[in-house]
Amino acid sequence: MGWIQTLCVLLLVVAAEAISRDDFPNGFVFGTASSAYQFEGAVDEGRKGLSIWDTFTRRPGKNLPGYLIRLQTTIASDAFLALCNGPTTCCSVCVQGESWISAMPTSPSTSTTGSSDLRCLQNGPGDVDLMKELGMDAYRFSISWSRIFPNGTGEPNQEGIDYYNSLINALLAKGMQPFVTLFHWDLPQELEDRYEGWLSTQIIEDFEHYAYTCFKAFGDRVKHWITFNEPHNLAIQGYDIGIQAPGRCSILSHLLCKKGNSSVEPYLVAHNILLSHAVASQTYRLHFQESQGGFIGMALDTKWYEPISEAEEDVAAAQRAIDFELGWFLDPLIFGRYPHSMQRLVGKRLPIFTQEMSKLLVNSLDFIGINHYTSLYVRNDRMKIRKFILDDASTDAGVIKTPLRDGQMIGEMAASRWLYIVPWGIRKLMRYIRETYANPKIIITENGMDDLNSPFTTLSRALKDEKRIQYHSDYLSNLSAAIREDGCDVSGYFVWSLLDNWEWNSGYTVRFGLYYIDYKKNLTRIPKASVSWFRDALQKEK
Ligand code: NOJ
Repeated sequence: MGWIQTLCVLLLVVAAEAISRDDFPNGFVFGTASSAYQFEGAVDEGRKGLSIWDTFTRRPGKNLPGYLIRLQTTIASDAFLALCNGPTTCCSVCVQGESWISAMPTSPSTSTTGSSDLRCLQNGPGDVDLMKELGMDAYRFSISWSRIFPNGTGEPNQEGIDYYNSLINALLAKGMQPFVTLFHWDLPQELEDRYEGWLSTQIIEDFEHYAYTCFKAFGDRVKHWITFNEPHNLAIQGYDIGIQAPGRCSILSHLLCKKGNSSVEPYLVAHNILLSHAVASQTYRLHFQESQGGFIGMALDTKWYEPISEAEEDVAAAQRAIDFELGWFLDPLIFGRYPHSMQRLVGKRLPIFTQEMSKLLVNSLDFIGINHYTSLYVRNDRMKIRKFILDDASTDAGVIKTPLRDGQMIGEMAASRWLYIVPWGIRKLMRYIRETYANPKIIITENGMDDLNSPFTTLSRALKDEKRIQYHSDYLSNLSAAIREDGCDVSGYFVWSLLDNWEWNSGYTVRFGLYYIDYKKNLTRIPKASVSWFRDALQKEK
């Protein structure tokens, strides 16, 4: 490394050391986040039923995106070789590890030293220990619906309940709070087969039954519930573009994905998700909130959209971009209706809330979870706006989104092509939410960045993740300014993620973890530089 580069790295580390707990209010919660499908493994164990992601990544045919993920995972990942020798059907696609269910209750701590335990990620006392050592206060994980109800409804599966009980108890024993997401995209396949999942209003009752069961089984210890993770992402990727489960779209129909209707289905799915949330929240409040004393929220994904110029049309376009992402869900949850720009542009394709539904939605959140990673510039797209008027466009807000302005990038790109590093975006976003929705309670339920998992990257290089340190340091200092200087009510921050894991469309080709996972050596956890940075920043006594 030349002296200029060395100096830069030194400066980075010095700058990055500045953040500490003291920059945040008392009681501010730090944690890491995960999801069942990306972390649990053991898709066929513990009487778990199949989810739409299990089938999406296994079946070729009318499912090219899923098949490509499978290929990509196979080609790009060391994990393929490491994991495809077990007793499970792992070779269909190596998204999952091996049998944590059988391994977990009895086996001793996993460690960074490489045990023969192929338990995939989140679930051992070992990983809970890692979180504790980091100084984390909480862990956000999701429950796999088809582990609790293998067929989506009916009688709960005790093995699934036992598993989550042991995870929750392990966290509490170490003084960490569980933050539990009920739905992080892995719908039971049976409900997809029976009535097309989120496209049908029948799902509202089944989701309520599932949520009720979880509140009852775990709510004596779980005080933060997140009904849905990133419903916007699910609606777009699953029903417009069709590159995520259940893989429906119209443009590529028959050839690449299941035949759908991109101009209608995303709105229908979003509507049914909102209503499912409202009903589950009502159930929680009626039967559990008083006795259990918990809080209920939803985790919404949103970028910050910065107008590319001060021209009125670009400012309005940036607002539309936010409306079609954050406002799509937050307006109904706070105001009981969709954003005005959506009503105007989507017209009849946008479902309508009855008065009764609106009443159920308003105030159904105790906190807003925000998954925020990145920002983009936005300019108006006159052509697209015209298409909207013709009523044939899908979920586009009639805007052009771009990382480029005057030949300059908005920020450096991480490994994922959608992830530009723009720390000031989080502050603007927090201010926007405060102003638009009367300063609600916010928790940052995800924030993080990825590196490429390339065969050409040496282990020692992969462990020196200065860029990640800088990312968290800069986003956290902007968040701190949003709280302290702008008066935003933010009470928690969850890093995505504790460990490298399987990323939906990218398989194992990217690494988001603070800990490096050695996929060739039994999923050994190896701390990256960001582990000691977080440990220092989160020390309770300075
Ligand atoms: C969003 C999702 O909630 C999570 O599942 C995903 O892995 C991360 N962000 C990174 O893309």
